[in-house]
Amino acid sequence: MSSDEVSLLHHVRLTGLMPGMTYHYQVTAGVNVTGDHSFRTFPPESGSFDFIVYGDSQEQLPTFTQLERHKLVADRIAEEETDVTFVLHVGDTVGDPENPEEWNRFFAAGGGAMLANTTIYPITGNHEEIDDGVTYYEAFDMPPWYSFDCGDAHFTMLDSSDISGSRMTEQTAWLRNDLASNTDPPWKFAAFHHPPYSSGTRHPGGWLNFRDLWGGPVFEENDVNAVFNGHVHSYQRYLVNGIQYVVAATGGGPMYTLTEEKATGYQNSLENTLGYTRVHLDAENETVLMEFMPVAEISDDNKEVLSIYPRGSVFESVVVELSRTPDLVPEEFILPAQVFAGENNTIGLSVANRGSEVSDAFTLSLSAEGTEIGVTEVGSLEPGAATEVNFVWRPASASTYELTAW
Ligand SMILES: [Fe+2]
Repeated sequence: MSSDEVSLLHHVRLTGLMPGMTYHYQVTAGVNVTGDHSFRTFPPESGSFDFIVYGDSQEQLPTFTQLERHKLVADRIAEEETDVTFVLHVGDTVGDPENPEEWNRFFAAGGGAMLANTTIYPITGNHEEIDDGVTYYEAFDMPPWYSFDCGDAHFTMLDSSDISGSRMTEQTAWLRNDLASNTDPPWKFAAFHHPPYSSGTRHPGGWLNFRDLWGGPVFEENDVNAVFNGHVHSYQRYLVNGIQYVVAATGGGPMYTLTEEKATGYQNSLENTLGYTRVHLDAENETVLMEFMPVAEISDDNKEVLSIYPRGSVFESVVVELSRTPDLVPEEFILPAQVFAGENNTIGLSVANRGSEVSDAFTLSLSAEGTEIGVTEVGSLEPGAATEVNFVWRPASASTYELTAW
């Protein structure tokens, strides 16, 4: 195909592409001809695929440029993740959107190899606000919020920046409708810049407004599996009511420190480290594997790259199951040192929710040799939470009893 249109930023729309294919392309502009590059189209209706999540690739002049930090991450993705279907960028592409040189460095850092050979799905962060998103929209030609399907997954990309601040009600109504009307893909992922769960020293707890606006009422109601955010320059992961919240703000910007005490749902984190999150959706086994891949260790003062991680380094691997059900497990009896026949003895039982969904209130029953000792009401349990329940048991005679709980 060819396009003769002359413009400073040239967008070419490709149509009629087949699913599950690798397409090769070359760009010719005057006497300049690029090398042979390729990108992959989404798998047919169902199928396994990999995608990458990272963000906050901005530079911080005069300390470092995108070519010194962002490029480390983008080059590693290009070298190691040759099978990825797309890259999801969670905002703050550049630090100063009014500086065309930084945009050049963003595309040079990412485009050297990574962007040239994959597809990027961007969203706006707070840095894109500086010129009200004008250069961001010129560069990417994307709507402020949008969604797409890839294989068995639905992706919803949101704008948490002030660019859309006055349209938040409109965006939230769109989001509700988007999730409610795209129920076919079993997996659901959302992404936006400001993390609702975060432990950054500058903004401990995270953006509670987005928990209230989108978290419980929309994501939980619509069985979203994972939410990807940026902004607090670190890797962080939270699990709240069955939803994985991943802060993937490790694309090159200056690293931020986290508080000792972590926000609710905290699972894991890594500071002072650039890297990216790799996600593998296994369509057959109905699981998703999320891995944080560290690339470079940065000094506390953000001035130096201290070391480069070996290729294939994995900080943590998390398996996400598609089924989101509570799984109540009686785990352990807590017996007194001695049980006396003919007297009241207190028998403790710990019960845990090992599933990924909040359980409803439930009834727990304890029996000795098939004879019921008691029944107790237990309130709802968060995923991963455990509680201890006590029963009073008066065994008739000294003997060996088998205790059963359900
Ligand atoms: Fe940000």
